[in-house]
Amino acid sequence: MLPLLLLLLSLNQPAATAAATAATAAAQSEGPLLKVKVGIDEDPTTATNKTSDDYYDDSYNDQTNTDSQWLYELIEERDECDPNPCYNNGVCENDGDGDFKCICPRPFKGKRCQSVINVCRNVRCGRGVCVFIDTEPFYECKCIAPFQPPNCRRPSPCNPSPCLNGGTCVKGRTRASFHCNCTENYSGKFCQVGPDDCYEGDGASYRGFVSETISGHDCVPWNTHFVSNLGDDDYTEAGKEEEEEEEEDDGIGPHNYCRNPDGESQPWCFFRHNNTFYWDECNVRRCQGGTALTPTEPSTEVAITRPTPENEFSVCGKLWPSRITPRIFGGRKAKPGTHPWQVSLQTRIRNSTQPFTHDCGGTLLSSCWVLTAAHCIHEENEMQVELGGVDLEKSEPADQKLAVQSYILHENYTEIDDVQYNDIALLKLKPVTEDGLCARETRYVKSACLPPGPFPDGMECSISGFGVTEKDERGSKQLLDTKVLLINQNRCMAPNVLGDLLDDSMVCAGRMQGGVDACQGDSGGPLICKQNETHYIYGVVSWGDGCGKKNKPGVYARVTKFLDWINEKMRSK
Ligand SMILES: *[C@@H]1O[C@H](CO)[C@@H](O)[C@H](O)[C@H]1NC(C)=O
Ligand SMILES: *[C@@H]1O[C@H](CO)[C@@H](O)[C@H](O)[C@H]1NC(C)=O
Ligand SMILES: *[C@@H]1O[C@H](CO)[C@@H](O)[C@H](O)[C@H]1NC(C)=O
Ligand SMILES: *[C@@H]1O[C@H](CO)[C@@H](O)[C@H](O)[C@H]1NC(C)=O
Ligand SMILES: *[C@@H]1O[C@H](CO)[C@@H](O)[C@H](O)[C@H]1NC(C)=O
Ligand SMILES: *[C@@H]1O[C@H](CO)[C@@H](O)[C@H](O)[C@H]1NC(C)=O
Ligand SMILES: *[C@@H]1O[C@H](CO)[C@@H](O)[C@H](O)[C@H]1NC(C)=O
Repeated sequence: MLPLLLLLLSLNQPAATAAATAATAAAQSEGPLLKVKVGIDEDPTTATNKTSDDYYDDSYNDQTNTDSQWLYELIEERDECDPNPCYNNGVCENDGDGDFKCICPRPFKGKRCQSVINVCRNVRCGRGVCVFIDTEPFYECKCIAPFQPPNCRRPSPCNPSPCLNGGTCVKGRTRASFHCNCTENYSGKFCQVGPDDCYEGDGASYRGFVSETISGHDCVPWNTHFVSNLGDDDYTEAGKEEEEEEEEDDGIGPHNYCRNPDGESQPWCFFRHNNTFYWDECNVRRCQGGTALTPTEPSTEVAITRPTPENEFSVCGKLWPSRITPRIFGGRKAKPGTHPWQVSLQTRIRNSTQPFTHDCGGTLLSSCWVLTAAHCIHEENEMQVELGGVDLEKSEPADQKLAVQSYILHENYTEIDDVQYNDIALLKLKPVTEDGLCARETRYVKSACLPPGPFPDGMECSISGFGVTEKDERGSKQLLDTKVLLINQNRCMAPNVLGDLLDDSMVCAGRMQGGVDACQGDSGGPLICKQNETHYIYGVVSWGDGCGKKNKPGVYARVTKFLDWINEKMRSK
């Protein structure tokens, strides 16, 4: 999943080739949690504020092919075209050399037709945004009033009137200013917000018309190039037909109304400020009093406070059932609930009163057991785990914090010259209830399954983490994920790859991002492979050159090698 990496690439990425950068927004007054910088269409009035790297270098997409070629070369695929590796109705051709080529229909491109041509690249939409549409030429300029089509350069306030619901348009003093004088009980810049416009629960069912953030910014349409190109699942697994169906489900469409398609706590949207995209919660009212609608899913609070009926987690490896499409958020936000087994392992010096800080990742195996990397554990530290949240800086209702009672290192764990052998450890959490339970199963906290056996080379799996490693404190505070492909062991042991540093306690996997650089997920964090709709913990982030260099895949502790060990230790106490 190429786009996810965009979040990570502010590290180790030469400015000149940076396609996009992301970091938690520094400005707390702004509220946005995430800042993604991409190029957008030139805005004549802000031309002096832009800097060269505000401009989006689309070449990263083109580099995908060449830069991750090495990864595909490391993967032995049996019949290259079976199953069809091409997404989006791409036609696969065997090239006879054990490789395949996808012939992509417009507007798709990439090794597997996984990405979309940046149709907006050279489009100038003035005071508007370039949005994707389904038909040739696959884009259009969506103007923001009072600017007029086709180029959104000419302002024409109040003619035609942009005010809705009987509001009157009042021209302002400057040539491009206007104001909608709304009739009673209507509000919003265009009087589009009616008296009953409010959300219930977490706002997943909200279909109202508020299109402004709490910080007062106008939302950008969900089909802007920025939003839809970089999320890739939209154009991959889901496919086009399904996508249209799903539009009904999450309320996302060619508009800029606030929505909550991804399990946030309330409706939100992306907005643009200083040529940079952010997201923030919206200025939507919560419905008062009587519950008009019954939410289709339990609301956040219900899900969290509801006691777990069974003694243990009911089932491993399954996400909370949800038809929410992942399609647009890939590159910018990890959705709450998509990595419910993700653990933030936090430490502080033993017996100190300092706050705990995030140090490593981990994977929840059951209510009281967490799998992590042995090299994450230091005797002098006191540990706790944080579960459920996707933002370490924010206190989220889904958060669960639990003390670590004890840990078990693998007996044969060793480190030689930065190479970690048998880099695996178990953390036993401290029970918080009389029945001996630790983590509570919620929509946001679930366990991953141990794998039944080896998975095939070339399988697409994913890693997740907060982008922070022990060595680098500058990572994101938000949970990030990215797709990786499992690499054949013998190929990974080739002299030009990792050579004999590799042993059978390890498995290699490579990132698919190509030219966009990314540092690895947190040490100790999960490499998860999904089979038959069940998520298995296949690897533990261990070592390796995590930043996407050619022929330098990431190395993970091979969980299948430790199944007996894990089961025995978890049973023993
Ligand atoms: C552009 O920069 C100038 C001064 O640097 C500032 O006054 C102005 O508000 C900026 N414009 C925008 C749209 O940020
Ligand atoms: C707004 O509309 C109300 C009546 O709908 C009117 O009394 C008021 O003068 C209007 N304000 C402006 C600035 O036009
Ligand atoms: C506006 O809302 C108030 C309170 O709900 C109500 O009493 C009033 O009749 C509404 N006005 C209009 C024009 O609908
Ligand atoms: C936007 O740009 C203005 C002017 O360059 C600057 O003062 C302001 O801090 C910027 N805002 C953000 C959130 O970066
Ligand atoms: C921490 O405190 C406990 C008791 O409060 C003590 O037994 C232990 O030795 C202390 N550990 C360190 C590293 O100071
Ligand atoms: C550790 O290595 C020794 C020697 O290779 C082996 O006999 C033993 O079974 C290993 N221990 C575990 C827990 O795998
Ligand atoms: C996949 O899951 C279904 C239903 O749980 C089961 O019947 C089927 O055997 C599974 N297939 C594999 C390959 O595990």
